[in-house]
Amino acid sequence: MSAIECLAFASKARVGLRELTTLVRWSRERNEQLGVTGLLLYDSDYFFGYLEGEAQRVQRLYDAIALDTRHHEVRLLQHGALAKCRFDRWLMGYLYEPIFVGELEALWSGKMALGDIDARLKRWSLEGDVL
Ligand SMILES: Cc1cc2nc3c(=O)[nH]c(=O)nc-3n(C[C@H](O)[C@H](O)[C@H](O)COP(=O)(O)O)c2cc1C
Repeated sequence: MSAIECLAFASKARVGLRELTTLVRWSRERNEQLGVTGLLLYDSDYFFGYLEGEAQRVQRLYDAIALDTRHHEVRLLQHGALAKCRFDRWLMGYLYEPIFVGELEALWSGKMALGDIDARLKRWSLEGDVL
């Protein structure tokens, strides 16, 4: 069995909702083929991405994502070994609820640590909204 890793990043978005739909549809299909699970959050200005799966696949996918011109100033927030996957699928969330306003920016800028949303990541992994 190869090692399972998780990787989290945050970035500034360069896409609107229409392009996002294409991106999400493609990513969901591709991740399913790769056996990569996780989460993508978007609030129209920022992305937060969390990927988990076989180490090399996650790394290769992130390398491709980091070069994608649909976002910029991509920051790697976390990268490490996982005992087992927390997400059994890849979820996509829009964060328009007022409670989330500013949170993706805070993650991107380092004002908020990933640990601060850990409980929510767990909850989303069980009952996340799917686009
Ligand atoms: C914020 C963001 C998140 C992305 N997430 C994924 C993803 O989870 N899976 C995926 O296959 N592509 C994702 N992509 C798209 C990739 O950057 C890339 O377009 C895709 O993997 C195709 O790469 P390739 O042309 O090198 O095969 C994402 C792009 C952006 C901007």
